[in-house]
Amino acid sequence: MTGLAQDAANRVREKVKGPVKVGMVLGSGLGALADEVEDAERFPYQKLPGFPVSSVSSHASELVVGTLNGVKVAILAGRAHYYESGDATVMKQPLATLKALGCEQFLLTNAAGSLRDDVAPGELMLIDDHINWSGRSPLIGIETDDRFVGLTEAYDSQMRSDLTRAAASAGVTLKSGVYAWFSGPNFETPAEIRAARILGADAVGMSTVPEVILARWMGIRVAAISTITNYGAGMTGSELSHEETKQVGPIGAQKLIKVIKAYLQDMAS
Ligand code: HPA
Repeated sequence: MTGLAQDAANRVREKVKGPVKVGMVLGSGLGALADEVEDAERFPYQKLPGFPVSSVSSHASELVVGTLNGVKVAILAGRAHYYESGDATVMKQPLATLKALGCEQFLLTNAAGSLRDDVAPGELMLIDDHINWSGRSPLIGIETDDRFVGLTEAYDSQMRSDLTRAAASAGVTLKSGVYAWFSGPNFETPAEIRAARILGADAVGMSTVPEVILARWMGIRVAAISTITNYGAGMTGSELSHEETKQVGPIGAQKLIKVIKAYLQDMAS
């Protein structure tokens, strides 16, 4: 574990005792989940060594540690993206800090565009697998053999079945599919969306994949859920916008919060 992550974890431990079980990353419009944490201690990213500050208008930037439905959680409320700096390792220290706090698993969330007619804006999609269309990896530059991380089972099957069960018990429809990472920050072209569909993608987005790769490199189990905010470029008559992501995000976010709370409830019982 790197020194920076240990320093950040030590700063958290001054206020929060005992190991944290689940680490989370909240995507656009999901900040409301962090507001539900009990006995929350909040750490602005500026105060934590190695943490980035997101420039995305819908992203807060704080680590929130506390209890949610009986489980000790550490929530990265706001992520930094590859497209902000061209640095695919930008979430490395925050995720390493969650690991240093004791997290055994990461639950990642994002906003995404749907490539499937049967997965509409406002719905949720559990990520089964991904296509790294950006071609970037946060492991580039590591010189030891642990960089050759296997991604055959990148998205933990036990977590996925537990999340599927939690969604059913919360009465929320949870679709599933393959997420393709496009670097952004521009949205895709209709031709890219058609290509991604042919390649086997069900959704597209600008995040999460580097975090999944980092998690597997760290030996942490990981699962990810997308809130669908729009159909991919060219699938409807209208242009895409971040405004739409911000407006539709909270609809899926309310559902996702229910699923995550049910998932944690099951874990605690
Ligand atoms: N493409 C990429 N990222 C996104 C989209 C999209 O259509 N919607 C939300 N995030």
